[in-house]
Amino acid sequence: MNCSVHSDYHQMSEFAANEILSVLAANPKATLCLATGDTPLLTYQLLVEKIIRQKIKISQIHFVGLDEWVGVPHTNPGSCHYFLHKNIFTPLNVNLKNIHLFDALSANLADECKKMNELIDRLQGIDLMLVGIGRNGHIGFNEPGDAENNFAHISQLDPLTIEVGQKYFTETIHLQKGLTLGLAHFYAARKVMMMANGIKKKEIVKKTLEYPISTQVPATLIRKHQNAILIIDKDASGQE
Ligand code: PGA
Repeated sequence: MNCSVHSDYHQMSEFAANEILSVLAANPKATLCLATGDTPLLTYQLLVEKIIRQKIKISQIHFVGLDEWVGVPHTNPGSCHYFLHKNIFTPLNVNLKNIHLFDALSANLADECKKMNELIDRLQGIDLMLVGIGRNGHIGFNEPGDAENNFAHISQLDPLTIEVGQKYFTETIHLQKGLTLGLAHFYAARKVMMMANGIKKKEIVKKTLEYPISTQVPATLIRKHQNAILIIDKDASGQE
């Protein structure tokens, strides 16, 4: 794993957007898994601008979802679905056939997971997985203590994830479960980018770098990945 520390949120987002562009340049048929959340938002805005300005062709790029809140409709601005459409797919006019997200309203959630696993196999794996770090160290909805060999599965959300998750919603919402790609997908991704910014992430970034590698703090598992980069700003790094 490499660690890339930047002076501020804007610099780290520029760097991350350029990293994604280099994956697209190397493989115009890449499969990307892009996390939602506050952390990568500016990265995606910069990425969209660059793709449009540089007229980069993305018609053969496939996008797979990382996670989704069970029971939250796609039309809810707090859903991962809504976030990705608003910030990436709509501005880039991505063909719907290249977008593969969890349907967390499905009556058969286990089948949703199975379909996602089969799809990722058909796409021959994930070329780039970009994830944030939850305050408890989760990756997607792989919560502390979850199995390391999971593929897509239904996750029982950790109390901290439920508490912090409220920030994405304007209304009070009942969050209990999520659908998520598993840590087996994380390990198998050909490249991983993990991002964190701000003082609020300082403690978990320190644990990510210093705690024993264990599913108790899933983010520590990045240290086992062969092609991973941790992208952080100065505030999250703890540097003065
Ligand atoms: P955030 O979420 O980017 O909104 O801080 C990170 C995460 O929970 O993975």
